[in-house]
Amino acid sequence: MQRGFWGALKKPIWALAPMADVTDAAFRRIITKYGKPDIMWTEFVSCDGLCSPGREILLRDLWYTEGEHPIVAQFFGANPDNFYACARLARELGFDGIDINMGCPERNVVKQGAGAAHIQNPVLAKEIVQATQSGAGDLPVSVKTRIGFNAIALEEWLGHLFEMDLAAITLHARTKKEMSLVPAHWDVVARAVAMARALPEDQRPLILGNGDVSNLTEAAERVEETGADGVMIGRGIFGNPWFFSPMGDTATKSLEERFRVMLEHIYLFEELFYGKKNFDVMKKHYKAYVVGFEGAKELRVRLMEARTAGEVETIVRAAYPNV
Ligand SMILES: Cc1cc2nc3c(=O)[nH]c(=O)nc-3n(C[C@H](O)[C@H](O)[C@H](O)COP(=O)(O)O)c2cc1C
Repeated sequence: MQRGFWGALKKPIWALAPMADVTDAAFRRIITKYGKPDIMWTEFVSCDGLCSPGREILLRDLWYTEGEHPIVAQFFGANPDNFYACARLARELGFDGIDINMGCPERNVVKQGAGAAHIQNPVLAKEIVQATQSGAGDLPVSVKTRIGFNAIALEEWLGHLFEMDLAAITLHARTKKEMSLVPAHWDVVARAVAMARALPEDQRPLILGNGDVSNLTEAAERVEETGADGVMIGRGIFGNPWFFSPMGDTATKSLEERFRVMLEHIYLFEELFYGKKNFDVMKKHYKAYVVGFEGAKELRVRLMEARTAGEVETIVRAAYPNV
């Protein structure tokens, strides 16, 4: 088994989840500066797209800076040859690991036989993992998945994954059908850990649990309850780049500090992606930065009209001149 950087991580491992149009190169730089997790993932990137003439555009989703190591490239798709090619690409680009998305529930992804569709097709899933491992060389390969497709099928699905010689498995503790509509089933993560512990040490992948964790105290509680090697956090990072900081999260920051970092984030987004990514991507972030104080709603409404970082700054300064 290629454990690579995973073998050097101190437990419990705190990981930043891959989130399309959220954990892009700009936001990851901000997070690196204000509260760096133990590992970060890129957003998921289509293997078919990376192996097509449209490749250049998708390569932006694989931009990262040296400060972000260890960083894992996440791919989705259903074609083993393309996974092989993308694994080689990840190696050339200097990533520390490769993760295969086997959990995305979106219709257009599942329809391609990718994302959560792999849960229903373990034969293809295995072929994809093997193709990725042969392209990956000495880089470790991991999988991020869910606990079943229509119903919880942990034992069966994990049994297949355990045959794939993976360095780590992240379990988003919901089925594909549940999307994000019910609370995560952390008891199922505990079952996964028990199954992993029954394997010989040299064949045991690390198990990370994921779902609904909103601060590091909760993350530590989930580790305590389940025995997981770590926790992955997704939505908890919205508007809170301090999430992983030992110096405290957004609740401890003044409004001025939150706005200052929001503006830094927006200017960085513009610098990296001007004319390349839709500025509307930033709307998700304002919604999260601009909450929990009097006048927040009015300010958010005004920010929705902004089309450039400069316009955002003007709107914020008009309301809060001290920023
Ligand atoms: C906006 C958004 C984009 C996401 N994009 C991805 C993705 O690219 N790859 C992936 O494996 N999961 C993706 N996810 C799922 C998250 O990684 C995570 O599994 C999920 O949000 C549950 O964790 P949380 O409750 O901590 O948010 C996405 C989730 C959100 C909300």
